[in-house]
Amino acid sequence: MQKFERLTDATLASGELRAERLSDGTPICVGNADGQLFAVRNECPHSAFPLSSGTLLPGARLECGWHGAQFDCRTGAVLEGPADDPLIRYDVHVADGGVFVSTETISG
Ligand code: FES
Repeated sequence: MQKFERLTDATLASGELRAERLSDGTPICVGNADGQLFAVRNECPHSAFPLSSGTLLPGARLECGWHGAQFDCRTGAVLEGPADDPLIRYDVHVADGGVFVSTETISG
């Protein structure tokens, strides 16, 4: 059964990104893309820049602040290079005013 951890409160505004960590130290970027919450590993697949320091653009495009790679934060897919690999994603749900993130990644 999947395990979730509460990482932050559910007050993220649309377009907001937050840097959080799972209890095992895994860095997580939690964001709000037009009302849809998501969680991804907080390391750009290109050179590990923290994606929480990037920019969330319209259309759920997450732009890395270092070399400008862009990803679809809903699917993890690369939309613009120089990154080649997709984002590592985690399940998210909201309960009791908190954002809960899965300790296991979404595969596939
Ligand atoms: S570290 Fe993100 S694009 Fe290079």
